[in-house]
Amino acid sequence: MSNDFRLGGDLLINRIGFGAMRLPTNSFHGPARDPETGRAVLRRAVELGVDHIDTAAFYASGDGTVRANTLIREALHPYPAGLVIATKVGPVRTPDGGLAAGTDPAVLRPLVEENLETLGVDSLDLVYLRIGGAEPPPNGESVAERFEALAAMREEGLISHLGLSNVDAGHLAEARAIAPVDAVQNHFHAAKRDDTDVLAACQEAGIAYVPFFPLGGGLSDVTGDRIAKVAERHGATVPQIALAWLLASSPVTLAIPGTGSLAHLEENTAAGSIVLTPEDLSDLT
Ligand SMILES: NC(=O)c1ccc[n+]([C@@H]2O[C@H](COP(=O)([O-])OP(=O)(O)OC[C@H]3O[C@@H](n4cnc5c(N)ncnc54)[C@H](OP(=O)(O)O)[C@@H]3O)[C@@H](O)[C@H]2O)c1
Repeated sequence: MSNDFRLGGDLLINRIGFGAMRLPTNSFHGPARDPETGRAVLRRAVELGVDHIDTAAFYASGDGTVRANTLIREALHPYPAGLVIATKVGPVRTPDGGLAAGTDPAVLRPLVEENLETLGVDSLDLVYLRIGGAEPPPNGESVAERFEALAAMREEGLISHLGLSNVDAGHLAEARAIAPVDAVQNHFHAAKRDDTDVLAACQEAGIAYVPFFPLGGGLSDVTGDRIAKVAERHGATVPQIALAWLLASSPVTLAIPGTGSLAHLEENTAAGSIVLTPEDLSDLT
């Protein structure tokens, strides 16, 4: 299986990328991690061939002192040619420092500008419209006005590719009628495989499907006997097989495992070279 994917028809990227949410903190708005380690993880990721980093301006430690976009800019700017940085907009900060899902399209321009500034770029490679809260996709909520606002910023040159996050097949169809959707980022991993209609729609259209929580987010158990058995057969670790399964589940899936650990980074990127056999895939069904 080729380990490259052409996102949006033009951005050639490795199917194993990197999720930046765990650099500032190993939860969401939890205690700060060491920023020097975060920068070292980013530099090593690029050395290892990672050319797709997923981030958000709101990925930060609870005290706000360590922020993913700042670490990315400090570690990697000026960015190497071919590095794709994807970010997401939609959630807005609440006065208590938390995040709330909004539906107002007017909030999107300042959020895009915040990403341009904190990443130090004139144009963002890929911006996802992230809808809803922590729960599953908000059924029946229209994305049209917000996606039109992002499409207008794409026309202006502030963004080159658009994506959607936490959506259902109806949202995807609604957005695609407005502008090209080049990536979808939904909750999906080896122990949560129920997003089949969105994955099928992405596969049919050649849209990148980029699961969030590819390793279960430290919340769901992606371990278990089935994965452990296949891991033993390959002399691999359970997270590596969970990532290899994601890549084998469709030609359009991309992996963005999140870590603040150099050892886990090395392990996760090495998963890109594991080729699962039909027997492995049958054992993982
Ligand atoms: N669109 C959305 O709504 C949304 C939501 C969540 C996340 N995301 C994006 O998706 C990315 C991936 O999700 P995620 O980071 O939340 O979860 P994940 O990749 O499923 O899991 C990350 C967790 O697993 C640990 N881990 C990573 N590699 C490991 C390994 N080889 N062995 C053992 N433990 C390992 C990490 O801890 P250590 O840091 O200690 O390794 C961390 O606690 C995020 O970084 C973010 O960019 C998007």
